[in-house]
Amino acid sequence: MTAPGGPPQQGAAAPPPEPAHPPGGRALLVLAHPRADSLTSRIARRTRDRLEARSFTVDLLDLHAEGFDPRMTPLDEPDWGDRDKAYSPEVRAHMARIEAADVVVVVFPLWWFGLPAVLKGWIDRVWNYGFAYGRSAPRLRGKRMLWVGLVSYQQAEFARLGWDDVVTRTLATGISAFCGIEDAAVHLVYDSLEAGEAALTAADEGLDAFAP
Ligand SMILES: Cc1cc2nc3c(=O)[nH]c(=O)nc-3n(C[C@H](O)[C@H](O)[C@H](O)COP(=O)(O)O)c2cc1C
Repeated sequence: MTAPGGPPQQGAAAPPPEPAHPPGGRALLVLAHPRADSLTSRIARRTRDRLEARSFTVDLLDLHAEGFDPRMTPLDEPDWGDRDKAYSPEVRAHMARIEAADVVVVVFPLWWFGLPAVLKGWIDRVWNYGFAYGRSAPRLRGKRMLWVGLVSYQQAEFARLGWDDVVTRTLATGISAFCGIEDAAVHLVYDSLEAGEAALTAADEGLDAFAP
């Protein structure tokens, strides 16, 4: 027997390693699709269920269902001379949801090799100067982020054309890391128009790697 706090005895079994990311916490799950029965929406709901099964409390932000307006307004334009600018109440409410989250998971279809307008507008308006970037100690540092993008190309063709690097770099480096979120992953679900149920399992693999 080892006295509490004493050194482990020789030959005693080593304690299991701590998981890199203990399960649970608060997740903001962002969905960008106009149709509730789309594959993207199904993957988002399935992701919510799987996060909850891993003890996450999930805040589902369905941008279309909530009527998010992606158009930039003068009130939400950055003021480069004032990083403490008070943005619109709508944007501040979204900032609070991001601040409350330990992990941010974004599920979207790839449109024109980028984000659908509603999601791009959410980034433009909400991930704003002084909140998401522009401070020596980034407010979002320490959060984790997973981008789940549905791509209609097959994986090999998408890579051959160089799009996987472009899309991954834009999201993981251009947005997440730029905002202090170094622990960011991009998981692309390929062949989204043909894959059927296989797309659901393909999406699961991204979440399993991100939050085992
Ligand atoms: C406006 C629009 C633009 C699209 N652009 C692309 C694209 O650039 N690359 C791609 O792989 N698929 C593109 N697609 C196909 C979508 O990615 C595909 O429809 C989606 O992944 C299927 O998921 P869903 O059924 O949930 O919409 C586009 C689709 C639409 C409607």
